[in-house]
Amino acid sequence: MKDMPTSVMAELRRNGYVFFPELDPLRSSLEVAECIGSVVDLHAAYPGEGLKTVHPLRAMKEAESRPNTYSAMLGLKEFPPHTDFANWASPPRYLMLRCIVGFDHVFTSIIPSHALLSCLGETISRRALFRPRRQVLGKPVSILPMCFSIMDTEAIRWDPRFLRPLNNEATEALSKAPGSVVLQESIVRIQLSSPGDTLLIDNWRCLHGRSEIGLVALSRHLERVLLDEVRA
Ligand SMILES: [Fe+2]
Repeated sequence: MKDMPTSVMAELRRNGYVFFPELDPLRSSLEVAECIGSVVDLHAAYPGEGLKTVHPLRAMKEAESRPNTYSAMLGLKEFPPHTDFANWASPPRYLMLRCIVGFDHVFTSIIPSHALLSCLGETISRRALFRPRRQVLGKPVSILPMCFSIMDTEAIRWDPRFLRPLNNEATEALSKAPGSVVLQESIVRIQLSSPGDTLLIDNWRCLHGRSEIGLVALSRHLERVLLDEVRA
């Protein structure tokens, strides 16, 4: 695999995500991610926390899941749109999802951040402050603005399940977003159904979620790798 062509980079910049159907199915997720960009070595960065650099995402019922995960809260039900690791001061920039075992009827949903911003309005979005639902990796609990900027890049965080509101604007945001027609209409649904299907998401500019899995897709298996840079 060579570096990503500029047209792919343009698509990533334009849409906030890129889908590669059946991308080198015989290569490992780590090999593919290392070709795409700079991989976050979660295991080395947070030893003993059970975080894996190549993290398996399997369909699991609530009772079988690790505590404090989406699976433990929702099991096979739909996962609502969220930012991965929204409770970190600086959530990882990109995530790569890669299909190992897929099913046609399960979708990964993507919502661009501008849809959330236009649903909530500028004032609420810019002022909304959250805190993590619980202490993260032993660090002191911090104040997390919904909108933030790193190295001149505008970003948002959103995760009603793992963040708690700290001010009125955040409370208003959490009550306004569900059921918003703007958000519903902006959802892009992508099937990661064939081995090698790979989805690269800009975690600062897009929310992602997952449709309900259902008992027939219990063997669904994706892998997730985080990246802090994508090579052009
Ligand atoms: Fe996620």
